[in-house]
Amino acid sequence: MADSSYRIAVLAGDGIGPEVMAQARRVLDAVASANSFSLNYDEQPVGGAAIDAVGSALPKETLASCEKSDAILFGSVGGPKWESLPPAEQPERGALLPLRKHFGLFANLRPSICYPSLTHASPVKDELIEGGFDVLCVRELTGGLYFGSPKGTREENGEKVAIDTMVYRESEIERIAHVAFTAAKQRGNRVTSIDKANVLENGILWRSVVERVAQSYPEVTLDHLYVDNAAMQLIRRPREFDVVLAENLFGDILSDEMAMIAGSLGMLSSASLGASKEGGLYFGMYEPSGGTAPDIAGQGIANPIAQILSGAMLLRYSLGLAAEATAIEKAVQATIDEGARTGDIYTGAEGTHQVNTEAMGDAILRQLANTQS
Ligand code: IPM
Ligand code: MG
Repeated sequence: MADSSYRIAVLAGDGIGPEVMAQARRVLDAVASANSFSLNYDEQPVGGAAIDAVGSALPKETLASCEKSDAILFGSVGGPKWESLPPAEQPERGALLPLRKHFGLFANLRPSICYPSLTHASPVKDELIEGGFDVLCVRELTGGLYFGSPKGTREENGEKVAIDTMVYRESEIERIAHVAFTAAKQRGNRVTSIDKANVLENGILWRSVVERVAQSYPEVTLDHLYVDNAAMQLIRRPREFDVVLAENLFGDILSDEMAMIAGSLGMLSSASLGASKEGGLYFGMYEPSGGTAPDIAGQGIANPIAQILSGAMLLRYSLGLAAEATAIEKAVQATIDEGARTGDIYTGAEGTHQVNTEAMGDAILRQLANTQS
């Protein structure tokens, strides 16, 4: 039982961000009051909302608030309204990437969980995912093509030439590999490392460093897949994967694929963590994987589960409140088992009923109250 007070920077952002954030806060507050700790939220503008309000996707005040906080709970940013801005000023590149870099959030954890009762929501054939699956994608988040230099577009012989640089240092590969192996030890003891060692220098280095790190984790089985093959195998046999370890761009692509295989983007949380601090805690940014969903924004029908589960990850990794995090995860699972479905996961199946964003929050709060009383 904790007896503390924590400061959380809340960056709800655009699209469905604010609606799903409201439900996440209700759930977090319920857990806090049942376990005698308090969460002080500092709401700050980010993304398109911040561009409209103060002309920048990541205002100084927002960044300052994050610096003073124990963790960042992030909604989502972007939308059609800001797509015609220069790329570097758009909500995604102007807010997300600088936040990752500024706080050194090199480890991106993206759980891809397909609950047994939701396999029908996945586009993958039932026989391949019967019983559900649980894969954790560990993506390197501050290196590779996203940030390598030189980067830019220049004129050469009368035509434009664009350059991005893929660069990884041993130390960068090492630290993300440790994150993957440590996670595997707490799960299924398997790591599949992704690379393109048949073509890229980066791939050769990646593989050799991951193998070296693996020696410190004899209980964990390691295998390697080329990224193109991995894209296939994840669809063909998702149940056989445990932890998937990938560099930045490969992890970006594969984690979207895994999100799709799991059924709905609206269910998937994520954590972006920096170096571990004293006591094994991390400064981190927690956000749903699903994006702003502009097509349904403002209607109160979006699935809040990804945001709520991101809140659970925040409790676990940044505040060290593992039991409280598990309570939220169990309440979500129980809510799904009981049949509540937002539109993205509703198929009319027997024993299920459709709910809106707030009613999903209500249902999860009821389950929480059951397990905590
Ligand atoms: C993600 C997103 C971002 C990325 C974009 C919006 C910059 O796709 O978090 O996966 O590529 O990392
Ligand atoms: Mg992505």
